Amino acid sequence: MAIREAVLSIKGRTAYDGAGVKLQRIFGHADANRFDPFLLLDAFGSDDPADYLPGFPMHPHRGIETVTYLLEGSVRHSDSTGSGGVIGPGDLQWMSAGSGIVHEEMPLQSPRGVHGLQLWVNLAAREKMQSPAYRGAVASEVPVVPTGSGTVRVLSGSWGGASGPIVGVARSPVYLDIELNPGSTIQLDVPRGRTAFFYVLSGTVTTAAAEDLPGGSKPCSGGTCVLLGAGDEALLTAGPEGARFVIVHAPPLHEPIAWGGPIVMNTREELDRAFRELDEGTFIKSR
Ligand code: FE2
Repeated sequence: MAIREAVLSIKGRTAYDGAGVKLQRIFGHADANRFDPFLLLDAFGSDDPADYLPGFPMHPHRGIETVTYLLEGSVRHSDSTGSGGVIGPGDLQWMSAGSGIVHEEMPLQSPRGVHGLQLWVNLAAREKMQSPAYRGAVASEVPVVPTGSGTVRVLSGSWGGASGPIVGVARSPVYLDIELNPGSTIQLDVPRGRTAFFYVLSGTVTTAAAEDLPGGSKPCSGGTCVLLGAGDEALLTAGPEGARFVIVHAPPLHEPIAWGGPIVMNTREELDRAFRELDEGTFIKSR
């Protein structure tokens, strides 16, 4: 077994999206090839309603899946497939945009603010024009697996004999939310050939680092995203204050990326067609 070493360690930068929501863009356009099939990771989180109440009013997506994991607060959503409702802490929303959806995500004012992650997973060329699908899971449907060193919430894929509530999505990512007790270590199988990263929510996490990684294997604090290199397993150790982080892995697509805002296709022509259809009102292919 080969332990995967950290090959890239990044912090987000402040960005504004939707109607002016302040968030941290952890990775996005510039890193999309290294994180393939993952396109983007945003961490939204603020106790100040001015930062989150503008929300994400009706906007389109095509060619991707958007995965929202809410940690704190509540978000009202609705979309052109007819899905809608309010998600709360620990709930998960997995939107496969396929050929096209229009949706809105509007955070509601909450005493503890609104905090969460949105991950974009690319779809393969042959999947980009499939019918859209919405999958949601509430926190009580997410298995919480105790380990000797903490707990593992299985959002999608399986771990420790438990399977997450989100099944049948395109890249079948394994998506785990892990809490580790102070100083403890967890070993996770991450099969060879899959792209894997972890993102630290709180505390610190240390893992082996590639020789050329600036800073080496220093502890990674909250807000740090680490891309793991080749290998079969991840070995992650919490600092003295413990740690909470998510780890996500899936097989890469190795396909060309043509990216225009909320739409990600393979070619410039497909992108132009999508925007032309938006102008002409023919964007939505099925509901
Ligand atoms: Fe969206």
